[in-house]
Amino acid sequence: MTARIIDGKAVADRLNADTAAKAAVYAKAHGRPPGLAVVLVGEDPASQVYVRNKGKSTIAAGMLSIEHKLPADTSQDELLRLVRALNEDARIDGILVQLPLPKHLDADLIIDTIDPDKDVDGFHVVNAGRLVVGFDGFVPCTALGSMMLIDEAGVKVEGAEAVVIGRSNLVGKPVSQLLLRRNATVTMAHSRTKDLAAVCRRADILIAAVGRPRLVQPDWIKPGAVVIDVGINRIEEGGRNRLVGDVAYDGAAQVAGAITPVPGGVGPMTIACLLKNTLTSAERRAKR
Ligand code: GUN
Repeated sequence: MTARIIDGKAVADRLNADTAAKAAVYAKAHGRPPGLAVVLVGEDPASQVYVRNKGKSTIAAGMLSIEHKLPADTSQDELLRLVRALNEDARIDGILVQLPLPKHLDADLIIDTIDPDKDVDGFHVVNAGRLVVGFDGFVPCTALGSMMLIDEAGVKVEGAEAVVIGRSNLVGKPVSQLLLRRNATVTMAHSRTKDLAAVCRRADILIAAVGRPRLVQPDWIKPGAVVIDVGINRIEEGGRNRLVGDVAYDGAAQVAGAITPVPGGVGPMTIACLLKNTLTSAERRAKR
């Protein structure tokens, strides 16, 4: 059997079209489009690429994109002042401070200063808490995107055995909560899990979010399972620089029922979910 390949790009394109249509309705009703502010401190090349792509996608969705590019030696106070100003800015519905920040800045404090109701990254502890309790908040984009791809695979989540490898605040924890909310039986596996292969073999839905290239082997996968690969690992192979996931894709695709590729799986979903969160924020703020 060969797995169905879950096309993250196609799902992201559909989501973006939906967001753009709703953003246009919002703009007409409220006399302004939803607005996203992205703050980049320093010149990390990967972050520059991400921020540029976010800006382009925001504009393509018909939303207001505001970018603040600050020098690497920006002080904590200056950055906090900017975040507080964005909290108060009525044109802005979403605030994203690009991570990682330079070492001299306290990322936890910066994120804690973002208004939780504009925290479209879902990184604020208030939003983490809302997710656990089941209140409306913002869910980290990668976790949200992973859930949408599980649904795209057409698997019944209720009652399914779901195994999440990785317990990060960014992906593992929030995606586990989303699966639990949908009545899956969730196992969180991590670096200290005993016999990880056997744990994974139980999974109807397997989510790999550890950042270890090709950790998940084909014989760890239950035949027919849905496999969501969140890993983005750069490796040197055959004298080339390659992007690979946390799953040994070629073999896994012979066993799984459906699988996300890397690249082209979860990756394209993250910016699409960021724009969806920004639209949701605008709609909620208008009701207040
Ligand atoms: N750096 C890499 N990905 C992300 C993200 O999703 N949000 C933020 N704020 N920083 C990132």
